[in-house]
Amino acid sequence: MKHLLKLSDWSKEEILDTLNLADQLKYELKHGITHHHLAGQTLGMIFQKSSTRTRVSFETGMYQLGGQALFLSSRDLQIGRGEPVQDTARVLSRYLDGIMIRTFAQQEVEDLAKYGSIPIINGLTDYCHPCQILADLMTVREHKGSLEGLKLCYIGDGNNMANSYIVGALTVGMRVAIACPNDYRPDPFVLDFAKAYGDRFSISSNVLDMAAGADVVCTDVWASMGQEGEAAVRQKAFAGFQVNDDVMAAANPGAMVQHCLPAHREEEITAKVFEEHADEIFDEAENRLHAQKAVMVKLMAKNK
Ligand code: CP
Ligand code: NVA
Repeated sequence: MKHLLKLSDWSKEEILDTLNLADQLKYELKHGITHHHLAGQTLGMIFQKSSTRTRVSFETGMYQLGGQALFLSSRDLQIGRGEPVQDTARVLSRYLDGIMIRTFAQQEVEDLAKYGSIPIINGLTDYCHPCQILADLMTVREHKGSLEGLKLCYIGDGNNMANSYIVGALTVGMRVAIACPNDYRPDPFVLDFAKAYGDRFSISSNVLDMAAGADVVCTDVWASMGQEGEAAVRQKAFAGFQVNDDVMAAANPGAMVQHCLPAHREEEITAKVFEEHADEIFDEAENRLHAQKAVMVKLMAKNK
């Protein structure tokens, strides 16, 4: 694998190998063992949208691996004034060893990879959020011991998170149930991808049906970055698509909760459920660091 553009480009083995390396890097960090796998390397981080976790975890991860990261806001880059991505890709490939990009269109990420000559990592697009799902799978495996056969239920918008949960969780052997309003279903390409998994995948607007017997319950905001203008309409459309006590009662006893954050309490998740599962949610946030370090080592280390 050369890039992380979307999870459907990666095999089950590639995902699991990366999670294994992430576990190892986490263990080593906690025991004071450092590895400068990326000594002397520079990661460019292009942000067309806001970020707390992605920015800080990539920057810190790169530092821990012996390299450095450059924060490149599209407000300051010429890309923000219309310089084509084809040219940006070829220029930045002459300076950098890898690029992490957070933007709107998936095509922009694909084009960076097509025209550039260094590894490209998708730090979130409107279509998917692969780094987040690697961190989530790592967290589920830490808490549950394995992934195979577990049921993951996602409740809410059929957005970038839903798309990536479907692809990532099905690929590693989980069952996936999506509860979303009929007008806010996941991407057609992803629904087509899921068809190949038969009854391991289900989708419905009935929240409690989808949550029944879930081992992991996930959700995300009702209005994503770029959809702020639709917030009022979405508040109405998503009423009832909330992770609350009823949902947790339908799920398996001991079910865990994942939220990529930022969270909107009393919208997609109640404050009560959020706080009851805060340890799992903040483990998930922490694991962005370890999972992304593993991604960078896999894609960028010269001797790997
Ligand atoms: N979950 C996530 O990607 O968070 P940020 O938007 O803060 O990077
Ligand atoms: N769906 C959200 C995820 C944020 C990490 C968004 O795109 O804004």
